[in-house]
Amino acid sequence: MRVSAEFDAASFVEKAVEELRRRIGDRRAIIAVSGGVDSTTCAALTYRAIGRDLVCVFIDTGFMRKGEPEEVYRRLTAPPLNLPLKLIRAKDRFFKALKGLSDAEQKRMAFRKTFYEVLSEEARKEGCTVLVQGTIAPDWIETLGGIKTQHNILEQLGVDTAKEYGFDLVEPLVDLYKDQVRAVARYLGAPVEVSERQPFPGPGLSVRAVGEITEEKVEVAREASWIVEERLKEFKPSQYFAAVFEDERVDSDRHLKQEIARMLKLSEDELQLYCFKARATGVKGDARAYGKIVGLEGWRRLEGGVDVDLFDMAVKRLVHWDPEVTRVLCAVTERRHGKYAVAIRAVITRDFMTAKVARLPWEVLMEVGKKILERCPAVSQVFYDVTSKPPATVEFE
Ligand code: XMP
Repeated sequence: MRVSAEFDAASFVEKAVEELRRRIGDRRAIIAVSGGVDSTTCAALTYRAIGRDLVCVFIDTGFMRKGEPEEVYRRLTAPPLNLPLKLIRAKDRFFKALKGLSDAEQKRMAFRKTFYEVLSEEARKEGCTVLVQGTIAPDWIETLGGIKTQHNILEQLGVDTAKEYGFDLVEPLVDLYKDQVRAVARYLGAPVEVSERQPFPGPGLSVRAVGEITEEKVEVAREASWIVEERLKEFKPSQYFAAVFEDERVDSDRHLKQEIARMLKLSEDELQLYCFKARATGVKGDARAYGKIVGLEGWRRLEGGVDVDLFDMAVKRLVHWDPEVTRVLCAVTERRHGKYAVAIRAVITRDFMTAKVARLPWEVLMEVGKKILERCPAVSQVFYDVTSKPPATVEFE
């Protein structure tokens, strides 16, 4: 990981603007902006370089957070950014493309295909022959490492963008890490809502509505994520959200349960241990793993903050027992009748290549859980994801 102290945003911007002018020449360019720090910084940088020859589009995929399309539109078109932004509503196309798919990687591929179809149609309409993208270093490092197909990785995977989509690709942030992009955003005068914004993946809630996509599941993910973001922002985790999956479970091994109970200082009767049928992504060594989600119950009677080290030990033991395990979740509410389980995810990280679980007070997690149950009648139980990266990824898919 690079350290931002060595990074000089001013000289980066000066060189990048020059390079953008040289690469784009007198052509028109298009950029898809999500309101996140990478794409917005990239758009502001390119706008500085080529002005009105840049067309910025916000594609509403239907997988955005509550109120996000309107909020992002307002923020990006207002001073100081003043970006010429066009809002494109494409929810139906994305839902249709993902319909019936439950495998994480297939969902990502379908999302990507639709995303570039919509974008290239817009590029043709606007006479743009260059695509500018805010791809950053961890995006291609993880995609090439086989951990996941990041939606914006094309050239690095050998995709000929000119042939396939009709545009040349320019990626001015491709060597930067997240903290460096934030420094560039601040230097360009972006509002704090942009420069300090927590990351949100391109495929949005589609990777947080785990397994097959339904409107209902996406709605639960949207509402639960909103509750999590509202309550946890004061703790400033690097990233925090909710993921949703079907609450279908199978019991686990008795000996393992005894061992984990001892480790967590609980009696065997107090602990429940099971596997969900849903699967979630993780990292094993340098490779992507698509593995099992384990649920634990019995911890919630404890007070204070989440004991991250103790959970790390329990996760290691569970992974040793079954190398397919990529997630361990700990219940924060009682179970009731309902279709979906919700996992609260909150991590601390600088570079997003590795991440630690945020040490939040149990009382706050229980409060968030209670609110999710109140507002989402289809939810049976709420959990806290206690898995570091590795073995988990930050996102569930
Ligand atoms: P993972 O889940 O791989 O995530 O640990 C690391 C960071 O990357 C974000 N992420 C994405 N960002 N397109 C993006 O623009 C994607 O397809 C994507 N997938 C994951 C994730 O939110 C986290 O910050």
